Amino acid sequence: MDKRSFLQWVGATTVAGWLPRVKAKSTIHPSVELTTRPGKVKLVGPAFPATDVWGFNGQVPGAPLRIRHGNALDVIVKNELTVPTAVHWHGIRLPNAMDGVAGLTQAPIQPGDTFRYQFVPPDAGTFWYHSHVNAYEQIGRGLYGPLIIEEADPPTVDRDLIWMIDDWRLLDDASISNDFGAGHDRSHAGRIGNVPTVNGRFRDLIKVHSGERLRLRIINASNARNFALSFSDLTPSVIAIDGQAIRPYQAQEPIIVGASGRVDIILDMTGEPGSTSPVVDSFYREPFDLTRFVYEKIPLRESVLSERIELDLPNLPEPDLSNLMMHDITIAGGAMGGLRRAKFNGEWMGLREIAQQGYAWAINDVVGNRLDMPPLIDTKQGTSVELTISNSTAFPHPMHLHGHHMKLLSIDGEPLPEPRWVDSPLIMPGQSMVLAFVADNPGDWLFHCHALEHHAAGLGALVRIT
Ligand code: C2O
Ligand code: CU
Repeated sequence: MDKRSFLQWVGATTVAGWLPRVKAKSTIHPSVELTTRPGKVKLVGPAFPATDVWGFNGQVPGAPLRIRHGNALDVIVKNELTVPTAVHWHGIRLPNAMDGVAGLTQAPIQPGDTFRYQFVPPDAGTFWYHSHVNAYEQIGRGLYGPLIIEEADPPTVDRDLIWMIDDWRLLDDASISNDFGAGHDRSHAGRIGNVPTVNGRFRDLIKVHSGERLRLRIINASNARNFALSFSDLTPSVIAIDGQAIRPYQAQEPIIVGASGRVDIILDMTGEPGSTSPVVDSFYREPFDLTRFVYEKIPLRESVLSERIELDLPNLPEPDLSNLMMHDITIAGGAMGGLRRAKFNGEWMGLREIAQQGYAWAINDVVGNRLDMPPLIDTKQGTSVELTISNSTAFPHPMHLHGHHMKLLSIDGEPLPEPRWVDSPLIMPGQSMVLAFVADNPGDWLFHCHALEHHAAGLGALVRIT
């Protein structure tokens, strides 16, 4: 049996009561069961009570799903919540019917029902899965987990670690504040919490050895919080963004991980045995320690490995830059955004009236309040599409396109020396980005802000490929 194809936890943690059903010598990949259900998780440490969450198998994060590139993923989701759900495989270029957007690509999974997701992920890399029904509440309560598609020949590191980072809004008793979808969050920065966690733990300590080489797969599962991470005197080498390999570069500045984004880095642990070093977030005004590395007394080796790690570059369909269907996309609205009116259910309406219905944002003057609205883009399969996305609001927006990756070509008119593939680019206030992709995957796909309250308040649209 191929050990690497097991679905398993990485690192030190093991999951009790969660074992994949595997038949020895079978060529059929084992199916795993994920049950969405309530659970209790010690988010904030021993001094506080456990927090009631909703999790895959009651855990937060859900168990990492790890398969080798080329294998099929086969997951049976059983819904043991009292509300409908569905599971989206963020960043995977999969068949539309497997995309997990309830009301668009499948019917919601009703309480007590199951749904089987089966597909072969075409790209190796770091992805994640999460609920796509009332995501601002269901992800906010913990319904997410990592999805790792391992390279056929993964680079040699001492440990391959997943950091699923999140941001919780907890009350003094460590329970989740129930104000999901609050009006202020919908029209401002989204639900920003007060307890940032790594793999479901607040201010956890990460034990490392001097000389050790880590691969860190950072996945931002926050509702809306973006991160800008620095690693004290360590110099991370960034090897992949949004699951797709890039030519590695040494990060001299904090590494931005927008909501729903992923960054893979190689970290050589150069600190002294016995020392500690913080990982600091500085995206917002107040920097804080997200977590700390604690070096064991015994070094792993005297000097760090010098061999450079470089992943195979992605093999994605290249957009035909000489024959592009161009679309200008303007994101407007929100507090301090200056949007006066927009189309709501096909009618022009003043912002005040729109706000009264709980909406705040528009894409090209259209409030994305429903899944049966006319598509923003309607194109034939195989078309090379160019998007120029301008953020004319006062807030950053991580804009996620389902079913595709887009090549980021330029930012604010400056061409990137090395364009890179993204599925959730974080577009800052006033910024514009040009991206191109081949619309090769037929279906109706969501294109939306992954600040989940923004999406709930209208920052979403459809891309139809026929
Ligand atoms: Cu990560 Cu529409 O989703
Ligand atoms: Cu947004």
